[in-house]
Amino acid sequence: MTSELDPVKLMKQEVGRAAASRVQSGSVVGLGTGSTTAFAIQFLGERLQSGELRDIRGVPTSFQASVLAKQYGIPLTTLDDVDSIAIAIDGADEVDPNKNLIKGGGAAHTREKLVDSLADLFIVVVDSSKLVDRLGSTFPLPVEVLPIAVTPVTRAIQKLGGRPELRMGVKKDGPVITDQGNMILDVQFDAIDNPAELEKTLNNIPGVLDNGLFVGVADLILVGEIKDGQPVVREIQ
Ligand code: A5P
Repeated sequence: MTSELDPVKLMKQEVGRAAASRVQSGSVVGLGTGSTTAFAIQFLGERLQSGELRDIRGVPTSFQASVLAKQYGIPLTTLDDVDSIAIAIDGADEVDPNKNLIKGGGAAHTREKLVDSLADLFIVVVDSSKLVDRLGSTFPLPVEVLPIAVTPVTRAIQKLGGRPELRMGVKKDGPVITDQGNMILDVQFDAIDNPAELEKTLNNIPGVLDNGLFVGVADLILVGEIKDGQPVVREIQ
């Protein structure tokens, strides 16, 4: 009962609904990962079930997204079977004033970047706690690494001034294993002054799959806020 009144949950629900309402019949939809996008997937399923929306196909960015899509009756497809993705909906861990993001809190950023970058319209869904002046200020940067490369990549990142920590499982002994069978280094930097450059520098380290910096990828940010006790959605274009 109390979770119904949780303001963060209300904000996430509201942005999830707002993003799902922008999807049109016949579209291919990139389905992001995380607790906010989960609401968007739920509302897409409800629109399909009510008949208001028809003939959409989802491209999941993670095992979680495909499980939710199946649960809510959204047909799935793959990148091999579509020419384009009309719209992608995905969450973020941080959003800066230039609409650049840190993602990967759920260890799904590699597939998310692939799918979100291919979309004609990439909508980010966040609650207001995710807005920051500078990337890296509240959230360490996730980097997906081949298991055999964890030690050399750790050293290379330390040389760049980062403090990497291997992400450990919850209710699982040992490290988190991604959907691709890799590991995650969460890296704290004192400051991320140039996200575009850091994104490329990290991805150039042999053994790195991709990192959670999304620079110039987001088209529209939908921010859930509480105003006068009610959840509302603000748009950042
Ligand atoms: C998944 O790896 C992430 O990129 C998520 O999209 C991000 O962590 C946001 O998740 P929440 O909506 O649960 O905060």
